[in-house]
Amino acid sequence: MTSFYEKSIKDTELGPYFTHELGDDITDQDWIDHIELLADFWLAKILGEDTYYGNFVGAHVKMPRIKESSFIQWLHLFSETTDEVYTPDVAKIFKKRAGQLMQEFKTSKKKI
Ligand code: HEM
Repeated sequence: MTSFYEKSIKDTELGPYFTHELGDDITDQDWIDHIELLADFWLAKILGEDTYYGNFVGAHVKMPRIKESSFIQWLHLFSETTDEVYTPDVAKIFKKRAGQLMQEFKTSKKKI
């Protein structure tokens, strides 16, 4: 998770969205809370644990509209990170789920 956000902050496409909401210092409390929340989110989505009950699409509504090219870059960086961190079998599960959730995000955002 931390590795993904370290890359995202530095990324010219994704960086501004994150630094606008959470600042550019990944050791700040806002970032620590965000990374913990996202770890719980993925625990829920991959292992079915009772760790996340938020509305993840709704949480992005207050942010500037996310461009299609940013979504593509998000998935690219996420996939690249899972390949670095996990074994191929586990990385495959994360990448598949990330693609599905991103699709879910894009479809429901249109309805908001
Ligand atoms: C280009 C794409 C994306 C950008 C730039 C982005 C950016 C952000 C930012 C800045 C926040 C923090 C909002 C805040 O607390 O102030 C956030 C929250 C979150 N994002 Fe994303 N996001 C993207 C895509 C996604 C996708 C595809 C997923 C799911 C797979 C996701 C899952 C989450 C979750 C779970 C939260 C926390 C929601 C909560 O507060 O309960 N994001 N995102």
